[in-house]
Amino acid sequence: MNQNTQNLSPRLNQNLQSSGSQVELSELTGIRGVFLDCINDPFSNGSNDSLDNPSAENLESLENSSIRYIPDGLLVLNQGHIHDFGAYSALADRYPNLTLTHYPDRLITPGLIDIHLHYPQTQMMAAYGEQLLDWLNQYTFPMEQSFQDPEHAAQVANFFVEELLRNGTTTAAVFAAVFPGSVDALFAAAQARNLRLITGKVMMDRHAPPGLLDTAQSAYEDSQRLIERWHGVDRLGYAVTPRFAPTSTPQQLQLAAQLLAEFPTVYLHTHLSENLDELAWVQELFPGSASYLDVYDRFALVTSRSIFAHCIHLSDVEFDRLADVNAAIAFCPTSNFFLGSGLFNIQKAKSEGRSINVGLASDVGAGTSFSMLKTAAEAYKVAQLQHQTLSPFQLFFLMTLGGARSLHLADHIGNFELGKEADFVVWNLQATPLMAFRNPGPLPTTFRELSDRLFSLLVLGDDRSVSATYIMGQQQFDSV
Ligand code: GUN
Ligand code: ZN
Repeated sequence: MNQNTQNLSPRLNQNLQSSGSQVELSELTGIRGVFLDCINDPFSNGSNDSLDNPSAENLESLENSSIRYIPDGLLVLNQGHIHDFGAYSALADRYPNLTLTHYPDRLITPGLIDIHLHYPQTQMMAAYGEQLLDWLNQYTFPMEQSFQDPEHAAQVANFFVEELLRNGTTTAAVFAAVFPGSVDALFAAAQARNLRLITGKVMMDRHAPPGLLDTAQSAYEDSQRLIERWHGVDRLGYAVTPRFAPTSTPQQLQLAAQLLAEFPTVYLHTHLSENLDELAWVQELFPGSASYLDVYDRFALVTSRSIFAHCIHLSDVEFDRLADVNAAIAFCPTSNFFLGSGLFNIQKAKSEGRSINVGLASDVGAGTSFSMLKTAAEAYKVAQLQHQTLSPFQLFFLMTLGGARSLHLADHIGNFELGKEADFVVWNLQATPLMAFRNPGPLPTTFRELSDRLFSLLVLGDDRSVSATYIMGQQQFDSV
């Protein structure tokens, strides 16, 4: 046994024994700094993450909270995974020769998770003047045609992945285009940076320009090939991706469900109930269905591995159905404002007796920013307009652990639990003159200050606030 292992805590020794492998202490690295993560859902009852709670004044009360805050912490990494985590004072002696990176005046959080966006739309963000259906016809479809060219797809995919990292997003569920090569390009770009990424070929066999259409059968076969090539390789996952009900024939939706049956661990990723004209059109196209969600349900596309973007105009019955099957909702506030689609009712999803998995999503290119901070700030405003309040910790949950749970990845990512993959972001809370003016002095020492600082980061921060982004313990973006 390596001499240094004498220094390991009993807990750690136990872990090592149970995993059956011996860890070379010399291979460990450490990050020291100020850490914040979510260890549970702050929307669920019984949490004390409220400033109305008098005991929440001091940080010790975080013991029973869904939030964990460690003002001087140590994250010990082993081959890209979290080997140990806690207060620096408690852990430092156990790791005497650790190669340490110290961020004394930075906040470190888990990597952010964006559960719905479109990489082919990167270059058409800020397309003026239309709501969903006209926006698709006028801007989106022509832009997506250019992804027939694999070189163009590769160029945009590389830019897109760099943009995610620059914004602190370390996991994303992404629409590609209808062309299988567009999926290869994005998977390759993510794989090259060891990024966790879910994508899939858009399935679309009607109501789009001829150059963008597949057929029910070709979509099935292309998706099958892509799943076999990419799903479960490294950190990559596949999503069967019918664009939305109006652009797929019943036969195509049926074959999408067949793919889910053949490959039970792939995802289903689509749009649901975004715009009122879209809803009316769906009713026309599928007159026998009780609701928009029911269209997908009748084709067996509503499962625990389904991700539905938007969900603005859902009935209570539809919300109940999503809760029953444990499906996920992608809350896309900047997109919903931009296209004038409406206000997502998070209270219906997360309270009123329901606890639906909800994650935050940029929905680039209808969304107006890659920054999940800006996305969270807009989510707050969506709630405000409905006389609801989203706390800073609830917003933080939606873009970390909540996103991980929505994607069934909480065993791997979402917080700093031991054994998880070490994706994290180093934040500068004083990145701009305004932020420095708003947040003078040291990092928080009380719960109230922490909540305030976090909220100011969400509302005032953006890509300039990211000092560094780490993927599995390796720095993949550095602001300097
Ligand atoms: N519904 C169908 N396709 C799209 C899309 O590309 N973006 C958005 N926001 N909604 C859609
Ligand atoms: Zn979308």
